[in-house]
Amino acid sequence: MPRLELVTGDITTERVDAIVNAANSGLLGGGGVDGAIHRAGGPAILEECRALRATTLPDGLPTGEAVATGAGRLSAKWVIHAVGPVWPGLGRLADERRALLRSAYRRSLEVARDLGAASVAFPAISAGIYGWPADDAAVVALTTSAEAEQAPERVRFVLFSARMHDTFADAAERLGLDVVVLGDRDPR
Ligand code: APR
Repeated sequence: MPRLELVTGDITTERVDAIVNAANSGLLGGGGVDGAIHRAGGPAILEECRALRATTLPDGLPTGEAVATGAGRLSAKWVIHAVGPVWPGLGRLADERRALLRSAYRRSLEVARDLGAASVAFPAISAGIYGWPADDAAVVALTTSAEAEQAPERVRFVLFSARMHDTFADAAERLGLDVVVLGDRDPR
């Protein structure tokens, strides 16, 4: 099991080997953390995404999948673009889509591991513009990472607000998972 870490902050400044982007299938940028990563990382990331669309991913990246590019000006070596599902509202569809959210985490961890990353940072995938309820997003993020067989040694959740941080911390406690809470400025 990887070491799980929680911190409040802006993921673009994290000093880890790989940063996960909550992208969309088009891979050509967006708002939220996607916009922040492209802004901070510079045009090299978008160029690589365009190249992927022109070659191996002409129809875009399916929901639940992940693909890596370089990280441009970010201190990370790689950005792993993962596509989470849109929250469908409570009901039968929620279970199907939850499997896709699990897959987005699992595939990102596999890609990170295949790259040789020792550490990876995740935002709360789907819990922003895609509307996933924060508590459920935290449970999926934590359990999928804790159960992952293919993962870097360290998995860090970088939460943009104190509220989301508390949601993750509460979920970890309820689930009986050991997580290391880092200060706002972790020297790594
Ligand atoms: N660092 C860390 N977390 C961030 C940052 C940041 N710089 N900016 C936003 N967040 C947080 C949000 O507060 C939210 O908790 O990341 C979480 C995910 O939110 P979104 O970025 O909106 O991602 P998502 O809900 O998965 O929606 C994806 O948004 O912009 C588009 O292209 C993206 O279409 C895709 C959709």
